Amino acid sequence: MLAEMLSISEKHRAQVPQLDMPPRLLLGPGPSNAHPRVLQAMGMRQVGHLDPTFIQVMDEVQELLRYAWQTDNRFTLPISGTGSAAMETAVNNIVEPGDVVLVAVIGYFGERLVDMSTRYGADVRVVEKDWGEAFTLDELRAALAEHNPDVLMLVQAETSTGVLQPLEGIGDLCREFDCLLVVDCVTSLGGVPLFVDAWGIDVAYSCSQKCLSCPSGLGPITFSPRAMAKIQQRTTKPHSWYLDLNLLANYWLGETRAYHHTAPIAMNYALREGLRIVAEEGLEARWARHRENATFFWEGLADVGLVCFAPAEIRLPTLTTVRVPEGVDAKAVAGKLLHDYNIEIAGGFSKLAGKVWRVGIMGFNSRRENVLLLLEALRRVLG
Ligand SMILES: Cc1ncc(COP(=O)(O)O)c(C=O)c1O
Repeated sequence: MLAEMLSISEKHRAQVPQLDMPPRLLLGPGPSNAHPRVLQAMGMRQVGHLDPTFIQVMDEVQELLRYAWQTDNRFTLPISGTGSAAMETAVNNIVEPGDVVLVAVIGYFGERLVDMSTRYGADVRVVEKDWGEAFTLDELRAALAEHNPDVLMLVQAETSTGVLQPLEGIGDLCREFDCLLVVDCVTSLGGVPLFVDAWGIDVAYSCSQKCLSCPSGLGPITFSPRAMAKIQQRTTKPHSWYLDLNLLANYWLGETRAYHHTAPIAMNYALREGLRIVAEEGLEARWARHRENATFFWEGLADVGLVCFAPAEIRLPTLTTVRVPEGVDAKAVAGKLLHDYNIEIAGGFSKLAGKVWRVGIMGFNSRRENVLLLLEALRRVLG
């Protein structure tokens, strides 16, 4: 039918009020509150995604990311998407159909790597630990010897269990077994020690909304020369066009800077500012701050009569899992914290549903006053 013969439907012409969101303190597994300087940077005037001034912003973001990752990798950039998009970029480019991918699973996000790698046609092998545990080097060595994979994937900071998987030595093992090492750093980048080059990590990916103090929307990723060699030797094109590293590299690196997609300008301003703050503070001080405030929280929990789920030796400073006491309704407590105190924490899920709360003290939010606020609110809610 011709446009002039049609009448406009008013059905969905909703009258909604001006946006006014509550002042939440985001102490769940992410997002955490963005740094005020980051929010300010997002309001900066817009330029085009190929404007020379934006290209400079892109270069600065990449250089600051290299600092945060502790890498000299040329192929270091933020993916336009959340942490899962960065995870999918790792799998899309590294995995060719038929590749043997070994996933060392210690929680839900390891399972997500299994799911993704399976979808991309890998011959996926899985080794698992109980939720709340991490792998030892000997266990990983045995698994590599048994499966002889092309790629080993694991999660450094398992957000579902609050466990920090120690990484030292795994890169050397992977070289010994001639396989690539892919590490999920979504809840660790900028919050806990991470040395991509020194630890021999071939692909590491993360997000913007946790320890980097930005809103969600970008997924930093870095590829080592070994990873790039595997990508250049592919005989098949990566399945996803949007997440094809070679196409992305034409936009992010090199002389021509060809259009690939319209990068989210304001989010890149945000990430630049978040990373600038990381560089100002320095990684050593930042990692120490996260550990100090986490320790302060863990000690305070004992006073409230609560205990941590993850063992102290492998406990993640950025995300704490707290055991829900017998007879307490985990969801009701989280609901009351949100409703009465504007504090967001999350419950456990899957195997830990109803058994733990998950508390993130990350980035800009990693401050003593926030820990005290949450402890006092918990004390009141639990009576
Ligand atoms: C360890 C881990 N990996 C991957 C993801 C997925 O990131 P996103 O939710 O930003 O897509 C998350 C999200 O919390 C995570 O904690």
